[in-house]
Amino acid sequence: MLTTRQKVLRRFWYPVVRESELGAAPFPFRLMGEDIVVWRDASGGLSALADRCCHRTAKLSRGWVDGNLIVCPYHGWAYDAAGACQRIPQTPGVPTTRAQVPGYRAAARYGYVWVCLGEPLADIPVFEEPGEGGFRQVHQFYENWQCAPFRLMENSFDLAHANFTHKDSFGRIDDPIPELGHITQQGGAGFVLEGRIPVKNPEGSESVLHTDAKFTERVIRSTWYLPFVRKSRITYPNGLVHSIVTCATPVDDASTQVCQWAYRNDTEADASTEAIIAFDAKVVGEDKFVLESTDCDAPLVAASGEERHMPTDGPGLLMRKMLLALLAAHGENEVRRVRAAA
Ligand code: FES
Ligand SMILES: [Fe+2]
Repeated sequence: MLTTRQKVLRRFWYPVVRESELGAAPFPFRLMGEDIVVWRDASGGLSALADRCCHRTAKLSRGWVDGNLIVCPYHGWAYDAAGACQRIPQTPGVPTTRAQVPGYRAAARYGYVWVCLGEPLADIPVFEEPGEGGFRQVHQFYENWQCAPFRLMENSFDLAHANFTHKDSFGRIDDPIPELGHITQQGGAGFVLEGRIPVKNPEGSESVLHTDAKFTERVIRSTWYLPFVRKSRITYPNGLVHSIVTCATPVDDASTQVCQWAYRNDTEADASTEAIIAFDAKVVGEDKFVLESTDCDAPLVAASGEERHMPTDGPGLLMRKMLLALLAAHGENEVRRVRAAA
């Protein structure tokens, strides 16, 4: 599947930038292969527009914010939050109604600005931890990876990879046969996978896992929010909950902006933010190393024969099936890279 070629994927919300990083200057981002500019007006309102002035195509992200308008740096045309041109300095008093750039939905949630390029098919996912009480949020990563978002999602539900990809952190290469896990909930918007994984407690991670034991176990409850968000809620035997939200925001077909944060039911005195980030940095670095070597054009049709499968691939195969159903429901076929004839 070539992500940007599947139009229906434009109808989901994706986090694009940390709210704390969105200062006075407009912020450029490429989402689903489309250049957009995210900015905050003087009233605090968020806006996302196509990053291309309708006069001579300069990038609005290279301009500046003036009150409730964004100003193009080339000749000063100024647009409002909906993308309507409100001022053309060279022709004062002349209506600007035909000058317009496309505008998109933007909203703030979980410390990020989320953008949807179309009519939303689903709300921004709701995570239960903030409402449960006793959880803190730890922002972890905002990184560009050279892989398809689907590859990261599939990896997140792949119980077999941990013992190999993560052999230098928590994985147990001596114990390569994982439990299969089981899908406990499934609907049109995703599914829940539950399982347990025996793991190593890597040296230096004792404070993060609240134990000196060399081995422990993760009970996982991972939720997939179709298409590219997952939450993996990990509970350790000592009651510690480390719940990770990973968003694979589609930049283009071969590039993903990884936005990840964790919810923890402990305190800074128990485990420092720095130690928690360092622990997961090693783990996600291991995933990145492998995923950036994968083909971004993953086949959704499992029986195509292009890739072979094993029993632990069940969740990934279900994802492929559900994505195919989503495409079909919106009149689309899977778009693949054109391959040279044999
Ligand atoms: S290109 Fe933007 S005002 Fe001319
Ligand atoms: Fe992993």
